[in-house]
Amino acid sequence: MLWREPLMKKGRLPSLTDYSPSRPLRIGVLISGGGSNLQALIDLCQNSSIAAEVVLVLSNVETAYGLERAQKSGIPTLVIDHSRFEGREAFDRAMIDGLDKAGVDLVCLAGFMRLLTPTFVGHYAQRLINIHPALLPSFPGLHVQQKALDAGVRFSGATVHFVDEGMDTGPIIAQAVVPILPGDDANALGARILKQEHRIYPLVVALFARNRVRLEGGRVEIVDGGQEPDAALLNPPMPSP
Ligand code: GRF
Repeated sequence: MLWREPLMKKGRLPSLTDYSPSRPLRIGVLISGGGSNLQALIDLCQNSSIAAEVVLVLSNVETAYGLERAQKSGIPTLVIDHSRFEGREAFDRAMIDGLDKAGVDLVCLAGFMRLLTPTFVGHYAQRLINIHPALLPSFPGLHVQQKALDAGVRFSGATVHFVDEGMDTGPIIAQAVVPILPGDDANALGARILKQEHRIYPLVVALFARNRVRLEGGRVEIVDGGQEPDAALLNPPMPSP
């Protein structure tokens, strides 16, 4: 959290000051697996009028299916296998090098299964975001669909948040609520949540592309919306049981 305090007081996104919506937002996506959220971001960039481009997909796993998704869309990929590095610091520095060479404005974690060092988090302060399959701050970490079921909560959902040095603790940008239905298991709940992840992650990236995301006192504000509803308030209608 070291970096957060002084930056938050400024109430803006200093690391994004080089970025203005007059050019497409350059996105780097970090994956370790299937990459369905990556696909949602690729689709946003390729099939909408949002000025954003996925310029690099970086995976720590050579066999991650998300790499194929990127290649099918003509997006450059980079594999950096964490097991070949002495420690997390050296691995993260290699990732920083790759992402900076690609000139990314915004780094999106999309099923990236490695913990990040303070070096990485600090380097991309306020331009590093993650999607998590629960309503944070409830259920950080792994296996969160099962944890939600075990806790007996009636609703779970998805959260897009800034990444800080904690585990799923950074300021929340957008959430979608999903009901827990009778007979749900972790897979059924996970699939329902994933559908909403694919909706809100592109929504948040679109907000960044329009330079509408601000941190004020540790909370996120969506600015300049006109008549548009605030992303944090958007929610899908309840499905019928
Ligand atoms: C998603 O559930 C995401 O919330 C979590 O990891 C999963 C990645 O899925 N961080 P995919 O690789 O995007 O399909």
